[in-house]
Amino acid sequence: MEKKGVIILGSSRSNGNTAKVSEYIAAKTRYDILDLTEYQIGPYHYENIHQHDDFLPLMRRIAETYDTIIFATPVYWYSMSGTMKIFFDRITDCLKIEKETGRKLRGKTMAMLSCGSDSELKPGFEMPFRESANYLGMKYAGEVHTWIENNEIPLEVEQQLEDFLENITSTTFAVDPVSVK
Ligand SMILES: Cc1cc2nc3c(=O)[nH]c(=O)nc-3n(C[C@H](O)[C@H](O)[C@H](O)COP(=O)(O)O)c2cc1C
Repeated sequence: MEKKGVIILGSSRSNGNTAKVSEYIAAKTRYDILDLTEYQIGPYHYENIHQHDDFLPLMRRIAETYDTIIFATPVYWYSMSGTMKIFFDRITDCLKIEKETGRKLRGKTMAMLSCGSDSELKPGFEMPFRESANYLGMKYAGEVHTWIENNEIPLEVEQQLEDFLENITSTTFAVDPVSVK
C-alpha cells in the first residue's frame, strides 16, 4: 500500500532556501508541500479565540490524508521559525478542543528538516520535534540539517538527504510490534 507524505514548510518565504530543499525532497518522494504562509494561523490562546482560523481544517486534512509528516523549518535564532512554533503550539487544540483529530496522528511518522546558513546545527534543535512525536504517539524518523551554497544544494547535503529519506521509508513501513501476534 502506498503511503502518502507531506512536507510542512515553515519558512517566512515561499521561495527561499527551506523551500528549495523541500522541493528537492518532494521531487524524489512525490510528497505534497504545505506552505504555512498560505494559511492564516493565529497563536495558541487559552480561550481558543483563533478556533475558526485555518488551523483546524488544515490539521484535519493532514490527519486524514498523510501517513508521514516532515516538518521543514529554517533555523531562525538557533530555533525553529516562529511560523513553525505557532503551528506546533496550535497542535494543543487537537488535544483539547478536537481530540479526534489528535488521535488520528497516532502511529504516523514524523521527521524534521532544518535549513540554516551554517552547516553546524546547535545541539538540542531537534528535541521539540522528537519529544512532540513521542507525546503524540507518532514514530520519529529522525532529522536532517541542510544549507544552501551559491543558491544550490551542496553534494554533501544531497547525500544526507538520501540517508534521511531512507530512514523515513524504513520507519514508515516498519511493522508495528503491537500488531504482530
Ligand atoms: C531571523 C533570522 C534568523 C536566523 N538565525 C540563524 C541561526 O541562528 N543560525 C543559522 O545557521 N542561520 C540563521 N539564519 C539564516 C537562515 O537560517 C538561512 O538563511 C536559511 O537558509 C533561510 O531559509 P529560508 O530562505 O527558508 O528563510 C537566520 C535568518 C533569519 C532571517
